[in-house]
Amino acid sequence: MKERISEIRETMTKELLGATSTQNLEDIRVRLLGKKGELTALLRGMGQLSPEERPQAGQMINEARAKLTEMLETKAEEIKKKERAEALKRETIDVTQPAELPQIGSAHPINMVMDELIECFTGMGFEVLEGPEVELDHYNFELMNIPKNHPARDAQDTFYVDDNIVLRTHTSPMQARAMLSRKPPIRVICPGRVYRADEVDATHSPVFHQMEGLVVDKDVNMADLRGTLNAFAEKLYGKGITTRFRPSFFPFTEPSTEVDLTCSSCHGKGCRICKGTGWIEVLGGGMVNPKVLEMCGIDSSVYSGFAFGIGLERITMLRYGISDMRLLYEGDVRFLSQFRK
Ligand code: DAH
Repeated sequence: MKERISEIRETMTKELLGATSTQNLEDIRVRLLGKKGELTALLRGMGQLSPEERPQAGQMINEARAKLTEMLETKAEEIKKKERAEALKRETIDVTQPAELPQIGSAHPINMVMDELIECFTGMGFEVLEGPEVELDHYNFELMNIPKNHPARDAQDTFYVDDNIVLRTHTSPMQARAMLSRKPPIRVICPGRVYRADEVDATHSPVFHQMEGLVVDKDVNMADLRGTLNAFAEKLYGKGITTRFRPSFFPFTEPSTEVDLTCSSCHGKGCRICKGTGWIEVLGGGMVNPKVLEMCGIDSSVYSGFAFGIGLERITMLRYGISDMRLLYEGDVRFLSQFRK
């Protein structure tokens, strides 16, 4: 018995000293003091000893247990310290390291220009109205006084969904929607996407953006259109930028005009961007054709109106010096992130 006890003390002491982890230590404790542990077994076996031997054996076992328990505790403390130090080292955060900042998105340049125009026109009392991109032929063409045989209806220009439904080719059908849903005075702008069956190149895209403007009231005339667009030009590009009206034709306006703005890069002197003319064409407009007013339920003997349609891509490209329209649609973040305000 004596020998067995010192044998256990010896091997366990060795193992204890060699323990390197809390788990190690726990295994040793179980093997020694657990229900099936070696010392526990010895204590149980005491019954078989003679009454004279018992007290001494008991004392020795207790001593061994006390000693080994103490060693276990000391070692446990030691290992815990070591493990904590290692964890701290492992989990250390270097607060001086440069942070990886979250990527912040930016508004698309077309949306930035659109927002600017919206702000400009709402400042003049216009209401913003949006409508469907999948549009009835009736609104896109018929109510805009574009009859069945008009070349604009050619399938080469228009995406037809079926005989009666198209992807809107312009924002002008919103004029009809505005007049049919409101009573004069009407002052609306209608920004949005439009579609034409164009090949993609530096200045064309099958999807692009327009902003329609419409004013209907008593005594509205061409001078009101001019004044509104002059205010818009100055607001957008600054003092000294004005408009030039050139006669044109649109089925939904009469008279109709193409509108140029003073070239904002040379202020009218003539440069590469305006091809030496000092003017840049940015929109079409005119007096709403009385036929259109009538078709949209407005008495043309009482009311008149003006309308205009602005191409947003063109303004965006001029504003930021973008030479290829495709850049606006490719979604390349390296390009788009340059336009952060
Ligand atoms: N809808 C025309 C287009 O897509 C632009 C336009 C011209 C709109 C004259 C108008 C306007 O409202 O009066 O080319």
